[in-house]
Amino acid sequence: MTKLLNVLLAAAVASSSACTTSSDCGLNGDCVDKTCSCDPAWTGDTCTSLNLIPLSAEAAEDGAYKHGTSTSWGANVAFCDEDNLYHMFVSEMKSNCTLSSWIPNSQITHATSKNISGPYEFRETLFDTFHHNPRLTFDAASGKYLLFMIGGDLDGTEDCSGIPDSDGELYDTRIVYSESASLNGPWTTPSEPLVERGAEDAWDYVVTNPSPIIHSDGTTYLYYRGTPKYWDDDSLLGELPESVGVAVAPHYSGPYTKPFSSPILSYMNEDPFAWFDPSRGYKMLTHGRDDPLNTHYAYSSDGLNWSSGSDVACNANVTLDDGTIKVFKNRERPQIYFDDEGQPAYLFNGVCPDEHYGYAYTLSQPLNKN
Ligand SMILES: *[C@@H]1O[C@H](CO)[C@@H](O)[C@H](O)[C@H]1NC(C)=O
Ligand SMILES: *[C@@H]1O[C@H](CO)[C@@H](O)[C@H](O)[C@H]1NC(C)=O
Ligand SMILES: *[C@@H]1O[C@H](CO)[C@@H](O)[C@H](O)[C@H]1NC(C)=O
Ligand SMILES: *[C@@H]1O[C@H](CO)[C@@H](O)[C@H](O)[C@H]1NC(C)=O
Repeated sequence: MTKLLNVLLAAAVASSSACTTSSDCGLNGDCVDKTCSCDPAWTGDTCTSLNLIPLSAEAAEDGAYKHGTSTSWGANVAFCDEDNLYHMFVSEMKSNCTLSSWIPNSQITHATSKNISGPYEFRETLFDTFHHNPRLTFDAASGKYLLFMIGGDLDGTEDCSGIPDSDGELYDTRIVYSESASLNGPWTTPSEPLVERGAEDAWDYVVTNPSPIIHSDGTTYLYYRGTPKYWDDDSLLGELPESVGVAVAPHYSGPYTKPFSSPILSYMNEDPFAWFDPSRGYKMLTHGRDDPLNTHYAYSSDGLNWSSGSDVACNANVTLDDGTIKVFKNRERPQIYFDDEGQPAYLFNGVCPDEHYGYAYTLSQPLNKN
């Protein structure tokens, strides 16, 4: 009886992790003899966890970008062959304001480094208050760099007082973009808002956290986070107070329409960072809404029909090369730097070392390559 039970249990365990196609391996590996063989940057039974390389204690402490005592949050990096420098675009709070007053004190900083992992040096405030959430991408058709972001006309505050997310997000987290032929600028004045908010009772009355994928024919999938108007009113929350949706346009400049009236991920997430891997499909990292220490992963073969977004790619604990763990209070805004072959090479995050949503700096951590 016990033996039979064990045989049945073993079969159940084997079938629960057995794969038949690469979509059972998170589109991050091949299914070989019913087992996932993961691409270098990924690990786990279903290849949905990031294969992060432990950091030295100094690298974890110093981060990639620290500008005096100011708070930075979420960085995109690209290499520029005009000057052989890595260029970073990152949200940075004015003065010594922390994340607790990101609305209206966030600006967008341009910083550079000789080394992908830093240290990056402050070069200029590219877009002043209020601008946040830069997402750099390149449009091969026009040869232009595009900086998607959120922004409005709010002035920063002298005393670092903030506007609660519940109010601030209602009127000034609209999605805009700027473009430039060079990472050294000049950048155009930010566009008009690209994506209309949903109806008063829609899941996406607030439309924020842009992440575009631009296809070769110009068609653009702009992933975003939506939140209802009355996000703190339980009766109106429904199942999805904060999740990820998509808007689609024939060109990155618009006009954008929403193909679905509901989110594309069934799991609650925010801060999408989406990309297209030509050899496997569409992929996305997000930050967990109800499990805020976790970074999640979602995948799709067509960019519209996605996995749930519940797979955990990493958490806020960073393993150090001496085997110990550096515990961060927040590790969010996951952004990947891809190598020349288009493989994920570095993960960039905003991290809070001491206090939940307090002071933050920018961390980079390499991903396994072989
Ligand atoms: C920020 O804080 C540092 C350290 O406390 C202080 O030296 C600096 O003057 C402050 N800067 C501003 C702009 O308030
Ligand atoms: C870049 O930084 C890493 C980590 O500090 C270091 O190991 C590497 O040698 C640096 N590379 C260059 C080109 O300076
Ligand atoms: C979405 O993908 C899932 C899994 O691949 C599939 O079962 C489902 O039929 C697809 N839905 C649509 C609307 O294509
Ligand atoms: C993070 O590390 C701390 C300290 O080692 C531990 O208590 C906690 O369970 C870890 N969290 C996760 C999600 O692994």
